[in-house]
Amino acid sequence: STIELFLHELAIMDSNNFLGNCGVGEREGRVASGLVARRHYRLIHGIGRSGDISAVQPKAAGSSLLNKLTNSVVLDIIKLAGVRTVTNCFVVPMATGMSLTLCFLTLRHKRPKAKYIIWPRIDQKSCFKSMITAGFEPVVIENVLEGDELRTDIEAVEAKIKALGAENILCVHSTTSCFAPRVPDRLEELAVICANYDIPHIVNNAYGVQSSKCMHLIQQGARVGRIDAFVQSLDKNFMVPVGGAIIAGFNESFIQDISKMYPGRASASPSLDVLITLLSLGASGYKQLLKERKEMFSYLSSELKKLADNHNERLLDTPHNPISLAMSLKNLDENNDAAVTQLGSMLFTRQVSGARVVPCGSVQTVNNYTFKGFMSHANDYPCAYLNAASAIGIKKQDVDVFLKRLDKCLKTSRKEAKKEKSVNEINTDLVIKGDTVLVEVCQVCIGLAL
Ligand SMILES: *Cc1c(COP(=O)(O)O)cnc(C)c1O
Ligand SMILES: *[C@@H]1O[C@H](CO)[C@@H](O)[C@H](O)[C@H]1NC(C)=O
Ligand SMILES: *[C@@H]1O[C@H](CO)[C@@H](O)[C@H](O)[C@H]1NC(C)=O
Repeated sequence: STIELFLHELAIMDSNNFLGNCGVGEREGRVASGLVARRHYRLIHGIGRSGDISAVQPKAAGSSLLNKLTNSVVLDIIKLAGVRTVTNCFVVPMATGMSLTLCFLTLRHKRPKAKYIIWPRIDQKSCFKSMITAGFEPVVIENVLEGDELRTDIEAVEAKIKALGAENILCVHSTTSCFAPRVPDRLEELAVICANYDIPHIVNNAYGVQSSKCMHLIQQGARVGRIDAFVQSLDKNFMVPVGGAIIAGFNESFIQDISKMYPGRASASPSLDVLITLLSLGASGYKQLLKERKEMFSYLSSELKKLADNHNERLLDTPHNPISLAMSLKNLDENNDAAVTQLGSMLFTRQVSGARVVPCGSVQTVNNYTFKGFMSHANDYPCAYLNAASAIGIKKQDVDVFLKRLDKCLKTSRKEAKKEKSVNEINTDLVIKGDTVLVEVCQVCIGLAL
């Protein structure tokens, strides 16, 4: 109720809520539905001004204050999470992919000749599309296999820069948080290369704020080399609805340049959600969530290892990935390759969400680029596997129930695969497409049907 009181106080500072106000403009914060007005705490003006998403709007002092406060609180959390020397950040009401696009579009004005983006491969469609949408040509750098891990090929990055010419390259686009067996990029080495060749460096830190390791990599990269901006998702790191991201960096004026690129005003909803969340949790509450996530990661890791051993499989050895784990599915794959995707749909119908099965050798074309071994971050990873992650907010019960259901599914997968067939045909397709929204709708439907 203290937070609500505070929000009401902010709202009465906006002109649409002044009792004596008469509006004769084209955007006067009028809302037809009381439900909609309440859903937004009567903060109707959004954030920013036509010139700049971070600018103060005189008509809406409350909303402007909300925006400034949110950006300050979020900056503090980024420092607390490990990037101590970050200087500036802002919340954008767009998810991670579009926020990366905004960064690339800002760089375009600084490097008009450049048309390539160097991108160590990560099989996630939005980060790939973020470069296409901005109008650049991604130069895919394949990862190298070290033990079970897929790691950045630093020599290949440098060779590509020399071949293309530094001035033709917009930036290096690296990634921290990712599905095992890929591990976070070698940010320090990449940052040093970027500094040496005077090439900007944008880091996709989608769900990395929740991991001290990912944040440490960014801090180190900025210390020894060059990182221009790093982008993180609000929903993945702060347990709020999908819709926002944070763009942060070490050079205040460059981050301002990005915020000035955003045309027009923007929704205040993502800022409001994250401000409410962080005010309720406090720094200590957020730290506690980070601590619990880490503990659950160790627990998931040791329990999944036991389960893998029992089924004559292996927990892949990926010590550099602090969030995601992978367990081999060799036995299933050797019996028949459809069994792997069948396991995916079995887990699915048993309401296990987020576990991801990756068969060998699936080929997919994204924006006219064909990826061999799509989903596995490599042309031919040695085995099929299953991913599970310990993300912020996970509970011990999630892990326990998941392991129980996975154990059961693995036991029955060969025997009962046929019975699942009718459901599988829908699901296999969905699993391969990785379309989370459809998948979740379907899961509910199937759940009801069962
Ligand atoms: C979630 C995620 C993205 C961005 O997805 P959005 O839907 O745009 O938020 C990009 N890269 C990685 C690695 C991700 O996990
Ligand atoms: C910071 O960013 C500004 C604007 O993009 C740029 O002109 C300046 O050179 C940058 N400073 C450093 C130290 O990189
Ligand atoms: C896709 O690639 C083909 C073959 O390289 C080319 O002919 C076609 O124009 C491309 N399409 C787009 C949309 O880029």
